[in-house]
Amino acid sequence: MTPPHGEIPSQVAAEWARRRPPPGDEAPTPPAPPPAPTALVLGDPAPHLPRALARTGYAVTRWLRHLTRGQLCSPWPPPGPFGEVWVRMPRSSQEAVMLLHAAAARVGGGARIHLYGARNEGIRSAARHFPEGTEPPVTLLIKRRCRVLATTRRAPPPRPDALDSWEIRAPVDWGAGPRDWIFYPGVFACGRLDPATALLIDCIPALPTGTRLLDFGAGTGVVAAAALERAGHGTQAVLLERDAISLVAASRNLPGANLVLGRRVAALPGPFDLIVSNPPIHAGSAQNLHTVEELVREAPGVLAPGGRLMVVAQRRLPVPRILERTFPLMNTIADRESFRVWEAGRRRH
Ligand SMILES: C[S@@+](CC[C@H](N)C(=O)[O-])C[C@H]1O[C@@H](n2cnc3c(N)ncnc32)[C@H](O)[C@@H]1O
Repeated sequence: MTPPHGEIPSQVAAEWARRRPPPGDEAPTPPAPPPAPTALVLGDPAPHLPRALARTGYAVTRWLRHLTRGQLCSPWPPPGPFGEVWVRMPRSSQEAVMLLHAAAARVGGGARIHLYGARNEGIRSAARHFPEGTEPPVTLLIKRRCRVLATTRRAPPPRPDALDSWEIRAPVDWGAGPRDWIFYPGVFACGRLDPATALLIDCIPALPTGTRLLDFGAGTGVVAAAALERAGHGTQAVLLERDAISLVAASRNLPGANLVLGRRVAALPGPFDLIVSNPPIHAGSAQNLHTVEELVREAPGVLAPGGRLMVVAQRRLPVPRILERTFPLMNTIADRESFRVWEAGRRRH
């Protein structure tokens, strides 16, 4: 069976890890110390590489920023030190720079840092992302449009080893004047307001006193912040997000907000009067509506009687069909450029 596309880089990296001699068998090249048999894998939810490393004698630690079924996640990798680090090529170059820097801060002098990913993820031009203090990377393996690169750390990387040193501040204006907004590499719409998000914000009405609001896939908190600005006294907002780093940004942008690291609305106590979402549509390079379908399926269980779900997405997507399967009432409430906002509920209000 062909594996899902996102898993191929991990399989290729696993092949390299299986092929090389077990730890301790490598000819030591003085003055580098022999590699400790510990390995850290950053940002790879697939099991292939960690399994291959474990089978070849390494004690493996994994770190993920996104909550993934059956795995822990956190905003920053554990401190180590580790004998070597493997970094799965992330989607954004800024994030690749941040992760390789974090990798270099987790190994000693002479240790290896690997980066692996697919051609369509930018692995061919990724050598520029390695931090100062590392040697020019070499390509260990090219296979199935994927590469495994490796470098050796020579000196500590330049920035302090903390998420704070990667904070990005940029003005964001959703119609009430520019705000200083905090982002980190790899968060959605880093440094800007996404046009679909802006359209959704334009549709959020003034919320009556006491409204209970849920922002599903809250990112850095921009939709919830705009909604709260229009809300009466006592409005409670819950921000649900699966990316631990986005939630750190949201905690800085909306101090005191009710943030939940999670993946499913069904796990929330509810009830909510309004659920708003600019949901994730893409997983890797393939279009994937699974999260929207799950949100729509589970929303009635946490909506108050008369509650509504408001979703923005590209107009070409079959979101109305998905909403109509669950909700008897569904309307298009905005249409701009390539985006639409739909509102769904069980009763008229
Ligand atoms: C299109 S972005 C929107 C972010 C933010 N609401 C905005 O408009 O700027 C979708 C967000 O949903 C998050 N996400 C993806 N799957 C999720 C899930 N199952 N549960 C919660 N959040 C999820 C992503 O990490 C991402 O931050």
